[in-house]
Formats: sequence, C-alpha cells, structure tokens
Amino acid sequence: MTAQDDQFFDTFTLVIGGLVAVAVAIFVFSLFAGGATQREAQLVDEAYQAALQERIAPIGRVRVPGDEPADTGVGEPVEAATPVATQMSGPQVYNAACVACHGTGIGGAPKLGDPAAWSPRLAQGLDTVQRHAIEGYQGDQGYMPPKGGRVDLSDDEVLAAVEFMVAESS
Ligand code: HEC
Repeated sequence: MTAQDDQFFDTFTLVIGGLVAVAVAIFVFSLFAGGATQREAQLVDEAYQAALQERIAPIGRVRVPGDEPADTGVGEPVEAATPVATQMSGPQVYNAACVACHGTGIGGAPKLGDPAAWSPRLAQGLDTVQRHAIEGYQGDQGYMPPKGGRVDLSDDEVLAAVEFMVAESS
C-alpha cells in the first residue's frame, strides 16, 4: 500500500464513520420525536372523542326503576293537566260516524239531503228521531246502531250530527 492509499483509507473510514454516526443520531432523535408526537396525538384524540360523545349524546334516556341516575337535572314531574273536553261539530261527527250509511243510504238509512226519506221520520217528532240516533233502534227499513256504532261520542255530539242531517235534508 502506498502512502496515498493509506491516506485515502483513513479519510474514507472517517467519512463513513461520520455518516453512520449521523444516521444513528437521526434514528435516535426520530424515536424521541415520533414518540412524543404520537402520545400527543393520542391525547388530542381522547379529548376530541369525549367532546364528540357529549355533543352527540341522546337528549333523553330510558329511566329504568332502580337504575336512576343521581341527578338527572330534570325536576319532579308536574301534575298532568286535565285534558280540555273537546266536542266535534255536527258535520265533523257526521263525517266521522254517520256518512258510511247515511251518505249513500246503505241498509235502509235515510240518505242525507233526501227530504222524501226524512220527512216521515221528522213527522214522528224530533224527540223520537234524536232518541233513535242516540239509543239506536230497529226500524222497518233497517238497523240504526246506537250513536251510529260510535259509542265513544257524547250525546251532544250525536245531537249535533242529527241537527246537521235534519237541516241538510228538509
Ligand atoms: C251502520 C249504518 C248506520 C250508521 C253508521 C248510522 N246510521 Fe243512522 N240509521 C241507519 C239506518 C239503517 C236507519 C233507518 C232505520 C229504519 O228506520 O229502519 C237510520 C236512521 C237514522 C235516523 C232516523 C231515526 C228515525 O227515528 O227515523 C237518524 C236521526 C240517524 N239514523 C242518525 C244517525 C247519526 C247521527 C249517525 C252518526 C252518529 C248515524 N245515524 C249513523 C243506519 C246507520
């Protein structure tokens, strides 16, 4: 080996050694840096997830007896308001309960707007006609069910329907 070769070898070894040292330094640094940012990212993620869960949490939850949360933030239930009694008008009752038969005259029902069918009935007196509508009856032409089959209707509602039907049919 010449002196020149020796010098080359030394320099070469020095350069390679330096490069290896730099590579190792970068590797070690990246371990620290990477670890730190990854932990940070995880923390952010957890905080973000928690906030997200809170935002999309359902407004209410099913309350199972024996499993009530300590403080729901909801006060004691107020007393239920008494429902206001509502009454349907004559035409409303007619459309809901009477039109099925009296609209077309099914089964011998006197048809709405047919004075010929209604005048003999009115001749027996309005009382009777009203009573028949509320209590129902078996006539010559067919069977009129009590309240047209809608026993949930009040007497007043049925009377309003009768008034409407009579007014439309005379
Ligand atoms: C299932 C069919 C049916 C329904 C629903 C029905 N009716 Fe009738 N209704 C009849 C029949 C049938 C007659 C005639 C019976 C007869 O005279 O032979 C009649 C007769 C009447 C009469 C005449 C009574 C009389 O004395 O002549 C009135 C008033 C009347 N219905 C009112 C109503 C009212 C009000 C409703 C709705 C709340 C209603 N009906 C629903 C079948 C029905």
